[in-house]
Amino acid sequence: MRFATKAIHSGLLPDSATGAIMTPIYQTSTYVQEAVGVNKGFVYSRTDNPTRRALEQNLAALENGKFGLCFASGLSAANTVLNLLSSNDHIILANDLYGGTYRIITKVYQNYQIGFDFVDTTDLSNIRRVIKPNTRILWLETPSNPLLKITDIKQAVSLAKKHNLITVVDNTFATPYLQTPLDFGVDIILQSTTKYLGGHSDIIGGALITNRQDLYEKLKFYQNAVGGVPGPLDCFLILRGTKTLALRMERHCENALAVAKFLHRHPKVSRVYYPGLPSHPGHPLAKKQMHNFGGMVSFEIKSTVAKTKKLVASTKIFALAESLGCVRSLINHPSTMTHASVPPAVRKDIGIKDNLIRLSVGIEDVQDLIDDLKQTFKKL
Ligand SMILES: Cc1ncc(COP(=O)(O)O)c(C=O)c1O
Repeated sequence: MRFATKAIHSGLLPDSATGAIMTPIYQTSTYVQEAVGVNKGFVYSRTDNPTRRALEQNLAALENGKFGLCFASGLSAANTVLNLLSSNDHIILANDLYGGTYRIITKVYQNYQIGFDFVDTTDLSNIRRVIKPNTRILWLETPSNPLLKITDIKQAVSLAKKHNLITVVDNTFATPYLQTPLDFGVDIILQSTTKYLGGHSDIIGGALITNRQDLYEKLKFYQNAVGGVPGPLDCFLILRGTKTLALRMERHCENALAVAKFLHRHPKVSRVYYPGLPSHPGHPLAKKQMHNFGGMVSFEIKSTVAKTKKLVASTKIFALAESLGCVRSLINHPSTMTHASVPPAVRKDIGIKDNLIRLSVGIEDVQDLIDDLKQTFKKL
């Protein structure tokens, strides 16, 4: 089956009790057992729930994976991957990545004697330089948040395999519609389902997808043992979201490219970060490993920090808000919002400037989006 068909069919069988065509919201914590040890495959909803199981199978199919696991948030999914580490292990992560991932490593896992290095993974020599005998995980985010850097997944996997590292790709920005890193040999995919998969800004969720039975069993153990699972209503809403993912992503990409071109030509803009523009250093690689370039666009304005903050608060259609990947367009100031937990000196080092603005381009009429930016620039 192809993507759009899998999105609507995978994991979704008519309900065996009623024939309901949509997987019901099994709003139950526990299941009646016929006798001790005799049950219908479900015992307790932290361990497994039919609505969650349908979503897990659906997401696994979309990422071309065998196994899916869902969590209460993207960070809860990230935490579960990090549960694979023991004290004195070491992890290498992309330096341009979601601020919450930076925070969980530096503020939580550091307390458990986990060593870490954040490097620019677009240059593999930076990864090679910090690999240690105790390195266990290589964590990539491509396209990255917020600078939309593109890492060569195939080459990174080949390097990681030589050193027996588990590779993780946070595929939230691309979604499985644009990129399926498991096809390149990646071990674990992370999704914040809060974003494009849910798509409507009405749930918080996360997922892990893998082809490896050994990793699935460990991660499944931690899912139940640590317990950060999503409720059935949230699973139902994400399942509703994935059915239209293909259509939404097409429009996100089309709108984002038009917005990026508009910004690229604008005299008040000093730099645009969008992998779909030929001026983006990752453009040739993005063309090779992605089907299209996504809905996220970042840019810097030729102005002060104060005016940058004013600009992000003066759009009418773009809402000033955290998060991304929903039908509605959002605007964000990374250095005071999504990446505020990254210390200023580290942000400077990575290149996240205080005049950087990040757009999550929604699926509205693109002319209204461009007109909104035009009226905002006029006030600058
Ligand atoms: C790329 C990326 N990964 C992970 C997360 C964390 O997801 P959640 O907010 O669902 O915990 C986010 C949140 O913004 C994100 O942008």
